[in-house]
Amino acid sequence: MKLKTKLTLLFLFIFLLTLLLIAAFFVFYIKSLSADEGHVWLENIFSPVHFQMLLLLSILMGLLFVVLTVFFHFNITKPIQALNLRLKKVNIGNSRTPLHSRRKDEIGDLYNHFNEMEERLYQAHREQVDMIAAIAHDLKTPLTTITGFVELLSIQKDLTRMETQDYYELIMKKTKHMVELIDSFSMYTKNEAMFETIAMIPIAAHKLFDTISSEYETELSSFDFRLTWKHTFNPNQLISINEHMIRRVFGNLFSNAVRYSNSNELHVYLTGYVQEGYAYFLIEDNGVGVPNQDLSLLFRKFYTVDKSRQMSNGGSGLGLASCKLIIEHHGGQIHAFHSNHGGLGIRFSLPLSV
Ligand SMILES: Nc1ncnc2c1ncn2[C@@H]1O[C@H](COP(=O)(O)OP(=O)(O)OP(=O)(O)O)[C@@H](O)[C@H]1O
Ligand SMILES: [Mg+2]
Repeated sequence: MKLKTKLTLLFLFIFLLTLLLIAAFFVFYIKSLSADEGHVWLENIFSPVHFQMLLLLSILMGLLFVVLTVFFHFNITKPIQALNLRLKKVNIGNSRTPLHSRRKDEIGDLYNHFNEMEERLYQAHREQVDMIAAIAHDLKTPLTTITGFVELLSIQKDLTRMETQDYYELIMKKTKHMVELIDSFSMYTKNEAMFETIAMIPIAAHKLFDTISSEYETELSSFDFRLTWKHTFNPNQLISINEHMIRRVFGNLFSNAVRYSNSNELHVYLTGYVQEGYAYFLIEDNGVGVPNQDLSLLFRKFYTVDKSRQMSNGGSGLGLASCKLIIEHHGGQIHAFHSNHGGLGIRFSLPLSV
């Protein structure tokens, strides 16, 4: 039972009981007055019988007060004290046992919400620690290489002009890679902050599809890669999106297809259709693909299938995590699968506007 119902019933009970006791006293008093008419009422009210009656009334009221105090102590004060103590002790670094309550009332809700809040805090802390570790790791590798090359350049004085030029170019490449890493880290953190303010605008699914397909068809063909596209959207099917963010999703997916193609014959397939109130977009490639056990893990922050492959390709493992964040913020879902074309397939959905 909710606390507000419990308290209302309790106060109603006390009110009625008090009324009953007062009424009982007056009935008794009036009866004794009529039996003994000669006395003035004030004298009468303090007669020993009435005094006993008043005493009994006070004892009953006192008992009621004790019951009330005990009730408030166990039902309100004690659980709030426990919560306060827990708040004082919150230490994100340590492991924790959830605050326990079987109650179904407001205090039970408060405990559950507190547990959820604590879990979110711990999760955010874990993510922060992971993120710092991953950033440190990803930056350390190119930095070590740069330091190595700089040392080499300063020690070896007999290098030819060509060799020196090669080393400078490698240093340049590694520095660029570091800048890219830092860009993707800051882009990812910006994503979360941006969600608070982004505007969703309705757009026809086919229009978005046409713009994306013609844009990437041109881009891929400049590398001699191919894009095949088809959709079954009709002009009335609208989706409410932040176009800038959805374009970033396509950007990430196409850049992955190129990055992990591993051949000069990359062929990307873009498909669009509607099913059960959602617009679906599929991007498949004929690249190296991803082993079964990794498919569901690709959307985790900093997850990369093969560290050595990632090193040579220069990714930080945040692209797909960003895509998931954006798609879920739009009310859709994103999945990875083995494409019939040989490589990786990514399918994401966006709810149709009604
Ligand atoms: N089209 C693809 N083909 C094969 N493997 C892929 C493909 N797309 C992603 N992957 C694998 O999934 C991992 C995660 O991809 P994600 O885009 O999240 O990160 P990234 O490409 O490594 O870095 P970032 O996108 O942050 O620059 C990649 O490291 C890669 O191993
Ligand atoms: Mg990527």
